[in-house]
Amino acid sequence: MFAFLNKKDPVETTELKLDPKRIPAHVAIIMDGNGRWAKARHLPRVAGHKEGMNTVKKVTIAASNLGVKVLTLYAFSTENWKRPTDEVNYLMQLPVNFFETFVPDLIKNNVRVSVMGYTDKLPASTQKAVKDAIADTKDCDGMVLNFALNYGSRAEMVTGIQKIARQVAAGELAVDEIDDQTVDEALMTAPLAPYHDPDLLIRTSGEERLSNFLLWQIAYSELEFTDVKWPDFTATTLQACIAAFQSRDRRFGGLSAKK
Ligand code: FPP
Repeated sequence: MFAFLNKKDPVETTELKLDPKRIPAHVAIIMDGNGRWAKARHLPRVAGHKEGMNTVKKVTIAASNLGVKVLTLYAFSTENWKRPTDEVNYLMQLPVNFFETFVPDLIKNNVRVSVMGYTDKLPASTQKAVKDAIADTKDCDGMVLNFALNYGSRAEMVTGIQKIARQVAAGELAVDEIDDQTVDEALMTAPLAPYHDPDLLIRTSGEERLSNFLLWQIAYSELEFTDVKWPDFTATTLQACIAAFQSRDRRFGGLSAKK
């Protein structure tokens, strides 16, 4: 891990040297620490989420400029419904505010919006904002900005297994034909192919756990944990995470190309 990623206070540094040929195609982020960021400032938790939304805007543009192909952001989990109603309502309103103010910039930057999760359970206004953003950006062929909204990896796997079982029961698929690709195609990341698996998974705020995020897809992802809380995450923090990624020797279970 890069030394400055461990610092409690984020530091703006001069641009890090990155190899443009080894930018991770799919970057996934568990955006954590909004509540603690707000608490440290004696602000209500939702102030952290609001600032977190502004960070999403900055990081989206930074990732797109770096040449990332897919940026997946964990915005709301299937477990986040357990939070107080006021906070849940605020989090449900955030995509509405985000897309209302940011779709023109997404189009300008050729970014296409995609969403994965049980979106039919979201409030109607959130569903409409998401559908409109997907429609408004459908012709953009640059980076895909993929929000995980009411997403949980175990629920996704259960749904995927049910889908495969139905194919078997209908005689469309033999049990012995089930392989990695069958599972890939049954999961919510299938439309992101060939970039369905993240190359780099980042979690902010010092927590080092996966919280039911993309458990199948991260089998060979590089993991990067930073103490920086999500509202303080910047383009520079993203570059540092990518620099750390580029310093890794990815072997996918094989031997290093250098050996
Ligand atoms: C975790 O921090 C964060 C969330 C559950 C919500 C993440 C949402 C955003 C960053 C805004 C998303 C923006 C759009 C456009 C959808 P936490 O509240 O658990 O923080 P804590 O661990 O410090 O309490």
